[in-house]
Amino acid sequence: MSLHLGDIAPDFSADTTQGPINFHEWINNSWVLLFSHPADFTPVCTTELGKTALLAGDFAKRGVKAIAISVDDLESHNKWVPDIEEVNSVKVNFPIIADPEKKVALLYDMIHPNASEKATVRSVFIIGPDKKIKLTLTYPASTGRNFTEILRVIDSLQLTANYQVATPADWKNGEDVIITPAVSNEDAVTKFPKGFTTIKPYLRKTPQPNL
Ligand code: BEZ
Repeated sequence: MSLHLGDIAPDFSADTTQGPINFHEWINNSWVLLFSHPADFTPVCTTELGKTALLAGDFAKRGVKAIAISVDDLESHNKWVPDIEEVNSVKVNFPIIADPEKKVALLYDMIHPNASEKATVRSVFIIGPDKKIKLTLTYPASTGRNFTEILRVIDSLQLTANYQVATPADWKNGEDVIITPAVSNEDAVTKFPKGFTTIKPYLRKTPQPNL
């Protein structure tokens, strides 16, 4: 099933390294990073899951819960976690979904048969507290994800959820943002008291409003 931005993230029940979950209940009112990895006991995945654990504080600060998944079973996940912890000198503090029957992988279109018939690609879903999909990314098995980009896009999503702004190319937290075209110049004066610069009538920049 192909999922689109704005869709409700499909619900499921599954076993994880932190016990059984119902996904929608587990989301509760948080932002969520759901990401798949091709297989346990593989090198790139070991670095990615370690990196996610190392960034626990950065995710918590943003109200984001991380959850990983592969089509390996729970026994395999539980055997692999100590390796991740040893290699990355960190405790794995987020659940890893066991999906040996590929139920969740198929629900989220994480298996791309022309890449691999058996394993998931590196899918990323960022899901909002409203349980809607806000962002999808797909990486091949051979490329580890850029977690700086994942945090950057979460910052953008959270900002644009709260203010009538968008973020420009290569924007980073703290930099000026773009006032969306739906806001008139008149309204912009009151909505953006820090002021704004008009580069083109359709391109107006303002300091980041939540700082
Ligand atoms: C890895 O995580 O290192 C990996 C997994 C599957 C294919 C290639 C690399």
